[in-house]
Amino acid sequence: MNSSLFSLENQIVLITGSSRGLGWSMAKAVAEAGASVLLHGRDENLLKERQQHLQELGHNAEHYIFDVANDEEVLAAFGKIREQHGKLDGLINNAGIQHRRPLTEFELEDFDRVLDVNLRASWLLSREAVRLMQGQGSGSIVNIASIMGPQARKTISAYTTSKAGVVGLTKALAVELGPQGIRCNGIAPGFFATEMNTALVNDSEFTAFVSGRTPMQRWGDPDELGGAAVFLLSKAASYVNGNVIFVDGGLACQV
Ligand SMILES: NC(=O)c1ccc[n+]([C@@H]2O[C@H](COP(=O)([O-])OP(=O)(O)OC[C@H]3O[C@@H](n4cnc5c(N)ncnc54)[C@H](OP(=O)(O)O)[C@@H]3O)[C@@H](O)[C@H]2O)c1
Repeated sequence: MNSSLFSLENQIVLITGSSRGLGWSMAKAVAEAGASVLLHGRDENLLKERQQHLQELGHNAEHYIFDVANDEEVLAAFGKIREQHGKLDGLINNAGIQHRRPLTEFELEDFDRVLDVNLRASWLLSREAVRLMQGQGSGSIVNIASIMGPQARKTISAYTTSKAGVVGLTKALAVELGPQGIRCNGIAPGFFATEMNTALVNDSEFTAFVSGRTPMQRWGDPDELGGAAVFLLSKAASYVNGNVIFVDGGLACQV
């Protein structure tokens, strides 16, 4: 296999929510593949640390601070990317939140917050990214979906709804942007041990459930997600459009 197929040299890639968790793991993999990584989150100190870490390894990295649910901040950030780089090759819509409550106790404002961050922001950031990508006739958008959406668990109705929407968004963008050489795909992670899941990781009963339910019998390590991200951004996936890759240890296959 020609490793240059997977090279991201000369690419500029924005990864939302890359200060920690799956986003940070994907940022390390994307930087390792040669891209200039635009890190993102809201914690300035952490982002500075992450940027320095990548730079010490010889990679190109910058960071952007904005709330993905704040339209003005999003537009201002894209204005800055246009000004600094004049282009964008890849966007990974990864920033996401969870909120757990039984349906009858779920507040409408919490439903809206989850939908705003997980779904609405992915739409807005994609629109802004495509406005930059259109000029170059190429680009790759990767939306982080979930095994929730095609499947469901109780108490996470907003999250599951948002992630099903992310798959719809992925398909809508794939068909609309394909003619312009811009691809859009998704990654559906299974259970990964990140901050979002701290409560579940510390719950021995839930951890036993994950092991029993997943053919690979364990939680995913966040660093196991980077390969799929690099693939979807790279030339190796030049004819892959509108797909969702499950990185879930086989969970979605098992009844
Ligand atoms: N972990 C899993 O098992 C799993 C499984 C399936 C899908 N996913 C999806 O994978 C993605 C990453 O999850 P994770 O587990 O890595 O989560 P995490 O550890 O909680 O990290 C979430 C990231 O998103 C950022 N973020 C959250 N809300 C934001 C906002 N309003 N504006 C800007 N940044 C925001 C956070 O940065 P700050 O808080 O510093 O702003 C952080 O960098 C999410 O979309 C999640 O739904 C995760």
